[in-house]
Amino acid sequence: MDRHFRLTPPAPPAPDTSGFSAHVLLDGRFCLDEPIGHGTAAYVWRATDLSSLEKVAVKIFSAPLGHAPEGHEAVREAAALRAVENPNVVRMIADGTISHPATGVQTPYLVLELVRGADLRRSICGVLPPDAAARLGIGLAAGLAGMHAAGYIHRDVKPSNILLDSSTGEAKIADLGIAVNKQGQRDGQPSYGSLSYMSPEQIRRTPLTSATDIYSLGLVLLECLSGVRAFDLPQTETMAARTVRGPELPAAMPTGWRSLLAAMTSVLPEERPTAEQCRLALASLCRRPSAVAA
Ligand SMILES: Nc1ncnc2c1ncn2[C@@H]1O[C@H](COP(=O)(O)OP(=O)(O)O)[C@@H](O)[C@H]1O
Ligand SMILES: [Mg+2]
Repeated sequence: MDRHFRLTPPAPPAPDTSGFSAHVLLDGRFCLDEPIGHGTAAYVWRATDLSSLEKVAVKIFSAPLGHAPEGHEAVREAAALRAVENPNVVRMIADGTISHPATGVQTPYLVLELVRGADLRRSICGVLPPDAAARLGIGLAAGLAGMHAAGYIHRDVKPSNILLDSSTGEAKIADLGIAVNKQGQRDGQPSYGSLSYMSPEQIRRTPLTSATDIYSLGLVLLECLSGVRAFDLPQTETMAARTVRGPELPAAMPTGWRSLLAAMTSVLPEERPTAEQCRLALASLCRRPSAVAA
């Protein structure tokens, strides 16, 4: 990714209402500085690792550990992050639990490398030039290829789970909270994921393959290039539409992009390219100046 992205300064994160505050110490080592983001499951803080004085990110989950810790999202995310070590996937430094300052219940947390920048949802504005979108896609496809090779499917690829490092320009995949091992799936499971980026098979609740992440990545890249969310319709309409047709691709889109995005967002998972094939296709789009002209 280069510096020509049209990025807006990130909006300030919402204040942490989860009961933690600055200077809380985790494991005698990680000292909370300030909240930097949140999603549906957790608040994320910038923190200082007192053993090295390096800055880290601490993801503190809202749900307490409870009686079945093995099913907790934090435990599952930690297992997935341990299995998938890849430069384009956020790195885990430590994990643990802390007694909640207000309620005293055991609350799980993950210590992650701090990605200095903002997630794609908060930072992107307007449309990205095709070559910048290709560079973004190359990093994300590389991260997904690593994850798929390690046996994991992310299941929730979307802009708020994509972190952009503003100094190196690198894109990193975050939030493996609902990532699943390819072997561990059953038919009729609840459809996890985020509605706007879910694949047709996630909507139908059939067993998933890694192709589900390719579909979601296709929608993310299409949104970057077009500036609009492909399936931003009312819930029932968007769900029904997606199981029968692919997203509309802008007529002015360069041919190479059109064919790649059409394949990535095919209704049929087996028609989609693998993450590694996407990476190579995006690299070839980057290398051919005529194919990336707006
Ligand atoms: N390692 C990190 N470095 C910097 N910011 C992060 C990091 N991890 C998460 N964030 C920020 O916190 C937000 C929520 O994190 P996420 O892991 O997606 O939580 P949730 O599981 O609740 O969705 C992200 O959208 C991003 O803005
Ligand atoms: Mg998230």
